[in-house]
Amino acid sequence: MDITSEKVLVVDFGAQYAQLIARRVREAKVYSEIVSSSLSAAEIAERKPSAIIFSGGPASVHAEGAKLIDPAVYDLGVPILGICYGAQLIAQQNGGRVGRNDRGEYGRTTLRLNEGGGMLLAGTPEEQSVWMSHFDAVVEAPPGVTATASTADAPVAAFEDHQRGLFGVQFHPEVMHTTHGQQVIERFLREACGLHGTWTMRSIIDTAVDQIRAQVGDGTALCGLSGGVDSAVAAALVHRAIGDQLTCVFVDTGLMRLNEGEQVVETFERNFGVRLIHVEAGDRFFAALAGVTEPEAKRRAIGELFIRVFEDAEAQVEGAQFLVQGTLYPDVIESGSEHASTIKSHHNVGGLPDDMEFALVEPLRSLFKDEVRAVGHELGLPDEIVQRQPFPGPGLGVRIIGEVTPEKVETLQYADFIVREELAKAGLEREIWQSFAVLPDIRSVGVMGDERTYGYPIIIRAVTSEDAMTADWARIPYEVLETMSSRIINEVAGVNRVAYDITSKPPGTIEWE
Ligand code: XMP
Repeated sequence: MDITSEKVLVVDFGAQYAQLIARRVREAKVYSEIVSSSLSAAEIAERKPSAIIFSGGPASVHAEGAKLIDPAVYDLGVPILGICYGAQLIAQQNGGRVGRNDRGEYGRTTLRLNEGGGMLLAGTPEEQSVWMSHFDAVVEAPPGVTATASTADAPVAAFEDHQRGLFGVQFHPEVMHTTHGQQVIERFLREACGLHGTWTMRSIIDTAVDQIRAQVGDGTALCGLSGGVDSAVAAALVHRAIGDQLTCVFVDTGLMRLNEGEQVVETFERNFGVRLIHVEAGDRFFAALAGVTEPEAKRRAIGELFIRVFEDAEAQVEGAQFLVQGTLYPDVIESGSEHASTIKSHHNVGGLPDDMEFALVEPLRSLFKDEVRAVGHELGLPDEIVQRQPFPGPGLGVRIIGEVTPEKVETLQYADFIVREELAKAGLEREIWQSFAVLPDIRSVGVMGDERTYGYPIIIRAVTSEDAMTADWARIPYEVLETMSSRIINEVAGVNRVAYDITSKPPGTIEWE
């Protein structure tokens, strides 16, 4: 079965919305791709879409330079759903009228259905809450088009033309604040387009396995494991496809979280039977970091040594032609390299010819992060790996301010473990983007028992975020912070004070270095 035979093209008129729409379509079990609004109708047709969705966008359809679409797209015979700007564009290009209201609608708004709400809104309440974000609105539906809902400031808040397969909603069905939003998307896919939903976890895995086998043939592949979600899922998927033709390399820098190295080895080598080169390189990293305190110098030292150690391990595997990478769909969209899946990665490897080149195997290239987690789950990876928070490449090296020593790493690992354990106990780990401990290079005076102490503080950092570009400090309940604090001071030797970082990003960064 071709799981992309049912395909929705999400035409991007403003990047903020397109990814979320594409994810919602996939939640409805239909494959989706994001494409640029500059494609011609012929280029869109070449991709053989079963349905098209126009995203929202920041501009007015009347603005100079507004992104329009090749009007021949309306003659392809493919159903189109326009959202917000996308709906206005459909109206505008098909003989309707888009006007500017006295005031826009932003946020939660009440939508009222006209006579049952048409195909997309059928079965939902007469009055319902939707999320709006617009100034312009469709004030006159195109000829032959039925207005199926309205709001106080948008007389045509939803419209349908079954004959031509044109649908539009002024509100945002993709955001969770729109109560029946997912239903609108699903009804568009099922009722208006007749799609069945072939994009399921099982079919994603089966298809990826077939593709990996076809690409690698009887060749051999290498995969670097970092302990993170993406490389772990990529490795598990490739292993399912080609078994012993895959060798994983896991460099334990000594700068990982408590028991993390052990867990990677346990999962991949012992449970999955993956061929694993496990390099315990902690001593080499500590030697390289001796006396280094400047954050960028630390990052460079760790990064350079990592590559050297990885290359040494790589040299033990004869004739590997393929390198597995955990590239995700958002990386593909952001780098604009939609079609560039044949990139070669250049490795100047000690012991291997200078011009040794790997072909990349990127089995997660079409997946969003939540889908990667679901695939990992389906493949039997443990929750601790699949649900793991992002972790910086240089590891605890950038969470220890000043010189990094094995003793400090040990102190930080225990404190960090307590922070994450208490957060999980409080049931908060899914709401938090990252939570960890930082060990600064200062000491302060305290009193424990009847003794004066002179110890290190631990700083707790916990943030909420969507994408790590911006972040807010997490409002962790005082009781949880209190438990973290007392446990850290009681259980971690050398620590006598705990502080909570209440800085958002910007102006702070998530990490301290
Ligand atoms: P900052 O500190 O810049 O971090 O707000 C943003 C996100 O990136 C992670 N991070 C890294 N990830 N290699 C990585 O793979 C790195 O060198 C690195 N530095 C920071 C950080 O944990 C946060 O999620």
